[in-house]
Amino acid sequence: IVGEGGSQKVVAQLPSGESVEVYLFGATVTSWKSNGGQTENLWVSEAADLTGNKPIRGGVPVVFPNFGPPPATGPCSKLSQHGFARNSRWEYLGKSSTEDALDTSSVKLDFGLDRNGISEEHRKAWPLDFGLVYSVTLSKDTLQTVITVRNEGEESFEFQFLLHTYFRIKDISKVSVNGLGSVEYIDKVLDATTHSQTDPTLKFTGEVDRVYKDIKLDTTSILEDGKPRFDITRDNVKDTVTWNPWIEKAKSMGDFAPNDGYKNMVCVEVGAVNGWQKLEKGEVFEGGMLVKSHL
Ligand code: BG6
Repeated sequence: IVGEGGSQKVVAQLPSGESVEVYLFGATVTSWKSNGGQTENLWVSEAADLTGNKPIRGGVPVVFPNFGPPPATGPCSKLSQHGFARNSRWEYLGKSSTEDALDTSSVKLDFGLDRNGISEEHRKAWPLDFGLVYSVTLSKDTLQTVITVRNEGEESFEFQFLLHTYFRIKDISKVSVNGLGSVEYIDKVLDATTHSQTDPTLKFTGEVDRVYKDIKLDTTSILEDGKPRFDITRDNVKDTVTWNPWIEKAKSMGDFAPNDGYKNMVCVEVGAVNGWQKLEKGEVFEGGMLVKSHL
């Protein structure tokens, strides 16, 4: 662990140079370098607050227990947009590694958050007994992030979960996202209603904010200049949000910098956000993603 107070983070590196950096605040992955440590795969705003006072703008914020604005009723109704996980200080549970051969070497970092780890205000708003374990595994050209949600209380509860990943790209005008054809999505920019994706390829020419639901394929890919850049494989989750704020929205966000940073990022966010996941007493949910970097 390096750093002080709200800026504490865990940094890990493989013998071959690849590395990962995770802030305890939000268990937010803020750096993932592949290709012997030469290629940064995540975008973090130059104006991101890295002191533990507000969610980090960039990297991989963990969204839990609600996605988007809080619903009108139910225990999440008093929470803020995207829930409390990205606003809470997680506990570092430790590291495990395998170094059998160079190309299979990996390091796994575990983080935990439970009822006692969230603020008094969040405990009052969401009075449920839960345990989260979030595992971040770095291998030579992949990053795997998986959460387990356990219901530790007497009553059932419902939640949503999303990994709000900001991928670093060179030029948004040359980016396409594949693997979303014939899928229904909610268009939050247009009219918040359901549409059907006819084109198998999504390109960005303006603000995009779409919730793709119940995707049959396991993998969604980001291509740059027609070449594969990232393969994002869903693990036990079926939904994916695509987001780019474009010019005006990027300018309006106080912690988004530089203004034209939207050209260098694309959010492809896997999770379970179509409806709610229900957990009975003692039950556990597990879900996440495996990302392969082609650089
Ligand atoms: C996306 C949402 O997941 O997150 C967008 O679909 C939202 O509607 C974006 O604008 C960023 O949210 P926030 O709370 O980090 O500004």
